Amino acid sequence: MVTKTLSTFFISAFLFSTLATNSVSAIEDKKVFISIDSDALSFTQKKFGKRVEEVESRDGISVIKIDEDALPWLSMLMHKNFKRCGGFMLHDNANEAESLLNTHSEQLFAQKNSFIDYKIDQDAIVTPMIAQTEAANILATITQLSTFQNRYYKGDYGKKSAAFIKDTWAKLVKNRSDATVEYFQHSSWDQPSIILTIKGKSAETIILGGHQDSINGYMGGQTARAPGSDDNASGISTITEVVRVLMDNSYQPQKTLKFMAYAAEEVGLLGSKEIAKDFKKKNANVVGVMQLDMTNFKGNDSLDIVLMKDYTNEEQNKFVGAIIDHYVPGIKWGYDECGYGCSDHASWHTQGYPASMPFEATMDTMNHKIHTANDTLSVSNNNASHALKFAKMALAYVVELDHR
Ligand code: BES
Ligand code: ZN
Repeated sequence: MVTKTLSTFFISAFLFSTLATNSVSAIEDKKVFISIDSDALSFTQKKFGKRVEEVESRDGISVIKIDEDALPWLSMLMHKNFKRCGGFMLHDNANEAESLLNTHSEQLFAQKNSFIDYKIDQDAIVTPMIAQTEAANILATITQLSTFQNRYYKGDYGKKSAAFIKDTWAKLVKNRSDATVEYFQHSSWDQPSIILTIKGKSAETIILGGHQDSINGYMGGQTARAPGSDDNASGISTITEVVRVLMDNSYQPQKTLKFMAYAAEEVGLLGSKEIAKDFKKKNANVVGVMQLDMTNFKGNDSLDIVLMKDYTNEEQNKFVGAIIDHYVPGIKWGYDECGYGCSDHASWHTQGYPASMPFEATMDTMNHKIHTANDTLSVSNNNASHALKFAKMALAYVVELDHR
């Protein structure tokens, strides 16, 4: 049965292409660039012969030049033979196809490469500091950040909330000559990103970041109420507590530590994209990135910390899991995936840097109040006990990685 259906299909495909070629023989066929998974390349070449030309194959992806009118057939064949919907991506030109290959190989590197010889042996420094982390501090910062009407990337509120974060971080490092707190200005919108740097002995850099902006996804714009208590006042406040404890202990890093509050994440990871590109352009030696985006809502399953598998580095994720087991015992962690570049870790990943994204819940049990006027602390029972686990984990991550 299957054979018959297929052969009927191929006969009609043959008839169609013969007819099509005959009737438009005077007109040059328009060629387009597409990318397909390389396992479908020889199949495609067999089926379309001279109508397809391989441009370049790399890391399991092939860019091919193909007659535009072959696309509907290709789509059907892909569906039948590879159970792929569509099965290819269409590109406007050769450059765009080429840049997909580059991005893809950069991402594979960022996912698979082991950047550091991961180990855990800094108990003497880490354990006492972990004991000093306090939920009350995280709660206070979330409360303050939620007081702004919104922290939207455009408009006055988002600029004022950025200034608040800069001031808060500047106070934490006021006695340190090795530390700076700076704005990273963006050209297309007003809200700056904020970067706190503690200079180490080496230029190797560790980044702990999260986005500062909030959005009301339904009403949008510069005026709608968007407290963003979980998304992502929680992440910024968790980072703030990590810095506080490090500074209270006069921690002197080996590597350079950078703490970042990204602008304009909610509208396409815009702030972190510019920063990650800038770091790449300057050849910055970033050895680890951790993203904290939503840390204070415990989903209703058994996991406390969920490591996102996509757009992250596999070896660093294992290291973060081991850090949790070692330093935050009793905390259950596991894996899930966003399914797309859901936060700023994806910006670093795309530039080839090792990133992790420890998240507050599984996707199935996530906080559905985000991006509304109801993303408030009351959803987290007006406490920061869940975010505290992330502060302990992030503190241990920074100090252990700093000693590799
Ligand atoms: N914090 C969210 C991402 C998120 C939501 C992760 C739920 C996991 C579960 C983030 O702030 C966000 O909303 N991101 C955008 C990304 C987009 C603009 C590229 C999103 O998910 O729509
Ligand atoms: Zn977020």
